[in-house]
Amino acid sequence: MSDLPPSKDKFGSRLGFILAAAGSAVGLGNIWRFPYMTAENGGAAFVLLYLGCVLLIGIPVLLAELSIGRASGKNAVGAFEALDPDRSKRWRWVGGLGVLTGMAILSFYSVVAGWTLSYTARALTGTFAHSMTHAESGALFESIIGSPVESVAMAGAFLLLTALVVRGGVSGGIERASKVLMPAFFVVLIVLAARALTLPGAGEGVRFLLEPDFSKLTGTSVMSAMGQALFSLSLGMGGMITYGAYLQKHERLGVAGASVALFDTGVALTAGLMVFPTLFALGVDPGTGGPGVVFVAMPTIFDALPAGQAFGVAFFALLVVAAWTSTIALLEVVVAYLMGERGWTREKAVWGTTAVCFVWAVPSALSQGAVDALGKEALGRDFLDLMSIVFGTVALTLGALLIAVFVGWRWGTRKALEEMNGLPFGAVWALTIRVVCPLATAGVLIYIVVVAATSGALPW
Ligand code: TRP
Repeated sequence: MSDLPPSKDKFGSRLGFILAAAGSAVGLGNIWRFPYMTAENGGAAFVLLYLGCVLLIGIPVLLAELSIGRASGKNAVGAFEALDPDRSKRWRWVGGLGVLTGMAILSFYSVVAGWTLSYTARALTGTFAHSMTHAESGALFESIIGSPVESVAMAGAFLLLTALVVRGGVSGGIERASKVLMPAFFVVLIVLAARALTLPGAGEGVRFLLEPDFSKLTGTSVMSAMGQALFSLSLGMGGMITYGAYLQKHERLGVAGASVALFDTGVALTAGLMVFPTLFALGVDPGTGGPGVVFVAMPTIFDALPAGQAFGVAFFALLVVAAWTSTIALLEVVVAYLMGERGWTREKAVWGTTAVCFVWAVPSALSQGAVDALGKEALGRDFLDLMSIVFGTVALTLGALLIAVFVGWRWGTRKALEEMNGLPFGAVWALTIRVVCPLATAGVLIYIVVVAATSGALPW
C-alpha cells in the first residue's frame, strides 16, 4: 500500500510551497532564539559562524531532505525505507528519532509561542501604549512567564490552534495562510528594525553584530551555531522530508531550497538588527538578556513609534503567526508518520499527538518561575532550556549527520541530484553532503562527548 498523500494534498504552486516551507523555517527560532543565542555567544563572531553553518551544513542538508521527501513521497520514517537500495528497514529509526525530536521541540516551542499570545493580548489592551523602562518590561516578562495558570493555558491554547489547522490538511489551511501572512510579517519586522536603528545609541548594536571578536568563541559556540542553523531551517528531524513529499514533481528543489534559506536567514539577521540596537539604546548589556531578550526589549520602543500601539499589536500578532506556521509543520511531521506508518486517521493522529505534547509542555511552562526554576539545580539549566539544547541542538545535529550519511553513502548523491533536476554546482553539493557535513556534525558530537568525559559536565 502506498501512503502517498492524495493529490489534492500537495502544495498547489511553487510560491505556495516556498511560503509554507519558509513559514516552517521562519519562526521563534529566528526572532526569539537567534538573538539570545547571539547575545550569549558574544555577537558578530557567532553570527559569522552561524552564516558559515547555514552555507556549509544547512543548505546542503536542506536539499538532501527535500530530495528524500519528494523522491519517496513519504513521511520522515517511511521515506528511509522506500529509498534504501535494499529496502532495508534499518534506517527507519533515523526518521523515528526525528519524530521524537519533533514532539520534543513542539512541546517547549508551544510554551514560548504561548508567551506571544499573552503579549498580543496585552498589546491589545494597551499595556505597551505608555513608555516602559527596561526594568519594568523585564518585570512584566517575569510575571507572565512565571504565572503557572497563564503559561500552561497559553501553551495549551497554542497547541489547540495548531491542531485545528493540521486537521484540515496541507493545501487549504497551511498554504493559503502562509501566502498572506509571511510577507506581512516581513514588512512589520523591517519597520521595527528601521525604528530600532534610528534610536540614539543604536550604532553600538550594529557594531555588536558586525565587528567580530573571535576570542569569545568556544567549542560550545560552534555547537550552538550549528544547532541554531539546523533549528532555524527546520532540519535534522525530517521536517523538510515531510514537506518535500508534498511538493510537485516538476518543481526544482534548488530554487525552492535557496529561497527558503535566503528568507530564513534574512529574517534572523533583521531580527538581530531590531533587538540589538534597541538594547544598546537602552544601555543594556545584551549578554545579560537571557532567553527573554526579544520580549523584554521590543515593548520599550513601541510607544515612541507613530501608532505605537497598533505596531505593538502587529508585532506580537505576527510573531504568533510566525510561530504558528512552524508548529503546524512540526505537528505535521508526527501526524504524517502516524498516518503513513501506523495507519491512524488524521483526526486521531492530530489529537493524540497534541495531547502528548501538551503534557510534555507542562514542565517547560512551569520551569520559568512558577516552580522555582524546575530542573535548574540538578541539571544546570531549567527544563525549557534543557529541552531546547538537547532536542533543538544536539538531536538535530545527530539527525543531520545521519541524513547526510544516508544520502551521501546509502541512497546515493546521484539519485538525489536526479531528483533535484538540475542543481547548479551539483558536484560541490555532493562532496559537501558526503564529506563536509558528516565530519562537521560528527565533530560537534564528539566535542560534546569529550567535554562530558573529561570535565564530568556537559558543555552547557
Ligand atoms: N524552524 C523553526 C523556527 O525557527 C523551528 C523548527 C525546528 C521547526 N524544527 C522544525 C519547524 C521542524 C517546523 C518543522 O522557529
